[in-house]
Amino acid sequence: MRESDKLLMANKAWARERVAVDPNFFGRLKDQQRPGFLWIGCSDSRVPANEITGTAPGEVFVHRNIANLVVPTDLNLLSVVQYAVDVLEVEHVIVCGHDNCGGIKAAMTPRSYGPLNKWLRNIKDTYHANRAEIEAAPPQERITRLSQISIREQVHNLTKTSVIQRSWYLHDRPWLHGWSYSLNDGILHELISVAPRMPIDPIYQFDFSGEP
Ligand code: CO
Repeated sequence: MRESDKLLMANKAWARERVAVDPNFFGRLKDQQRPGFLWIGCSDSRVPANEITGTAPGEVFVHRNIANLVVPTDLNLLSVVQYAVDVLEVEHVIVCGHDNCGGIKAAMTPRSYGPLNKWLRNIKDTYHANRAEIEAAPPQERITRLSQISIREQVHNLTKTSVIQRSWYLHDRPWLHGWSYSLNDGILHELISVAPRMPIDPIYQFDFSGEP
């Protein structure tokens, strides 16, 4: 049996179990989703959004990439954010990083990773902009410090998007959160929480008053 066949078998068992516990489980979910949360997390296999938050299918809309970055030119991420905010009307957007992140670690080395360099460059720029604060920490704690600075940075990046700003202006939602997941004990910690309409640097603020 191939390793992948095990997943297909486990899936059948999972689906059977869901129906055994709740006969209408799939009937309720098949026609629409109404998640209250958008999760922007790391692709890391150890940080599965639903499992660590005790949420079921239908509760969390998920986007994951290496090191949970919010890059303003990333059409994939921006499309997910727009759909989650404008169509699904989520009340909370969570950027979730974690300690010992491979993406953060890779960005802190001089090694060239090919095309991935362009993605990691965003993390290197965050390091560059916060070098003094990061290097004030002992070497073994710098990955964690950069990771936490980066999580806050990604939340701020969300506040600079027109999608978030327009939704704040029109609907007074969503809240934005920056969380860090500990691989040591499985606990999530909130590093930053931003209420709708939080003032931001005016250079990033769009004016929606002229829109119909
Ligand atoms: Co990671």
